[in-house]
Amino acid sequence: MNMQGCSFLKESDFTPEEWLGFVELAAKLKAERADGREVQRLAGKSVALIFEKTSTRTRSAFEVAAFQQGAHTTYLDPNASQIGHKESIADTARVLGRMYDAIEFRGNRQADVELLAEHAGVPVFNGLTDQWHPTQMLADALTIREHVAKPFDEVVHAYLGDARFNTGRSLLVSSAMLGMDVRIVAPKEFQPDTEAVAIAEAAAAKTGARITITDNVEEGVAGADAVSTDIWVSMGEPKTVWTERIKALAPYQVNADVMAATGNPDAIFLHCLPSFHDLDTTVGREVYEMSGMDGLEVTSEVFESAASKVFDQAENRMHTIKAVMMAALAEPGIF
Ligand code: CP
Ligand code: NVA
Repeated sequence: MNMQGCSFLKESDFTPEEWLGFVELAAKLKAERADGREVQRLAGKSVALIFEKTSTRTRSAFEVAAFQQGAHTTYLDPNASQIGHKESIADTARVLGRMYDAIEFRGNRQADVELLAEHAGVPVFNGLTDQWHPTQMLADALTIREHVAKPFDEVVHAYLGDARFNTGRSLLVSSAMLGMDVRIVAPKEFQPDTEAVAIAEAAAAKTGARITITDNVEEGVAGADAVSTDIWVSMGEPKTVWTERIKALAPYQVNADVMAATGNPDAIFLHCLPSFHDLDTTVGREVYEMSGMDGLEVTSEVFESAASKVFDQAENRMHTIKAVMMAALAEPGIF
């Protein structure tokens, strides 16, 4: 496979074999680094990082992965650059494409990252839009590869909560591309849209994946090897939706009863993070005042349990994002 020069915009731009190839490359790069065998294959490269939304993991992962590989990054904050308010995406793309070897973009609209890729003339990496969060999915897959002792096509992966947004939609598609038994467990109004379901079904037809979309928690998590969730109100959504969101999604909280309902003592818990599992955040405290819930999408009991692999998952953002940059920017033969 040769991904040199390729953008990384959404899961369905790749074949299932290519998707698995990113995960395998990340595992190889992680092992090389752990053994002190890392070879710098991105020396002299420069990558622009555009963040219209906040980030801890994604920004850090791009910066550290680039540094470890000998590449340079520039962080571009829309408040401190011309992007959006004084300069269009297409013009920004043509400027940055003259200077940088690749561009990462995190923002609201998938159409913007696609437009950037159309005009930049260099690979563009999607660091999250409202529609898709593809780099996250590679980290999730690498974490499952490390902690679930089964091939991907035997893994049962259940996702609970808001499944209409980036993480839920991407998880559905990525799990289908890896041939998993994927369960989306959410009330009807928070289930994925028909476009996301059709993309996942097309992947499943190739990989043999099984797809279940249900509002029944017990049915959805039965036999799960991995239980995933995401925050209930995403970046860009107004605070005013918290009340209705809690009412609708409280029955889909990942708690000890849900983990027990998997019937699998080895089931792991995953979360892209950040998480509202305690009162140690401003938002967590504000929502507690309003709702009396001290854990939202997941309880601290589950988050802090041995089943929780969320910090391995967070570390894997770095190894998998390194794989994405390497596939696009290193000499052919690495992927
Ligand atoms: N999971 C994730 O994308 O985290 P950040 O928002 O911190 O980048
Ligand atoms: N759905 C969340 C994911 C954060 C990584 C958001 O968009 O805020």
